[in-house]
Amino acid sequence: MKIISDINELRDHLRGQNRASFVPTMGNLHEGHLSLMRLARQHGDPVVASIFVNRLQFGPNEDFDSYPRTMQADIDKLEKEGVYILFAPTEKDLYPQPQEYRVDPPQQLGDILEGEFRPGFFKGVCTVVLKLFSCVQPRVAVFGKKDYQQLMIVRQMASQFALPVDIVPAETIRAEDGLALSSRNIYLSASERAEAPALQRQLSAMREQVLGLKEKTVSSLLDIEANALMQMQTRGWKPDYMAIRQQRDLARPTQADLDGGQPLVIVTAAKLGKTRLIDNLEI
Ligand code: PAF
Repeated sequence: MKIISDINELRDHLRGQNRASFVPTMGNLHEGHLSLMRLARQHGDPVVASIFVNRLQFGPNEDFDSYPRTMQADIDKLEKEGVYILFAPTEKDLYPQPQEYRVDPPQQLGDILEGEFRPGFFKGVCTVVLKLFSCVQPRVAVFGKKDYQQLMIVRQMASQFALPVDIVPAETIRAEDGLALSSRNIYLSASERAEAPALQRQLSAMREQVLGLKEKTVSSLLDIEANALMQMQTRGWKPDYMAIRQQRDLARPTQADLDGGQPLVIVTAAKLGKTRLIDNLEI
């Protein structure tokens, strides 16, 4: 595997090849990331992975400085997956000048849910993803469904800018007890790790409650959300949101949407101790 940090060198290496299948990451790779690499490979060679902890998507009180950086272990894992190029730019490589041009996703999608609790997050994500796409010029890019809103926003960005890249979704990989794999799981203490699967169990319970409704109404969904929030708080969690939304745009479903059978998804972010976990479940 070739490890490249310079944008021009990356382009030189990719010239004359099939356009790549690309997996952008922030490193600290786990089985979830590796499943993205495998999926990328099914969509064509060469596979390019990137590792870049993107300052632009972290808020002032978030974990940019302490975000786990495990480059050598990551390299070993990517080698085993047959990744062709690891693009690992430094901040100077990717942002040689301050990145003043930014991609601002529409408020109705970028400022809700994750965007409400992490202002500017999706602006940072879209800006770096567009820049990485410009460096790699992939034919396909794989994004995990665990970051449901990120996947939707990146997909819409690619569509609205007519970027010549197919955004491929990848299923969430879970530990045996149901906890969605995440780089931030390493922040959990042993007792928090034992409690963490409760989040996914709560999503499953909400899903059962929605499916069990004789008639879906806006207020019955709000009751299910409120009850779930209370249950998680009682267990010692601090949920930011546990929301039943439409799969197509993450908006709250209206009664007409519910009557029309619009597919729903439950999305959540909740803090357990100092660790913020996110997850989702389609209904
Ligand atoms: O999901 C992530 O790891 C990051 O948001 C991404 C897509 C690599 C952009 O920094």
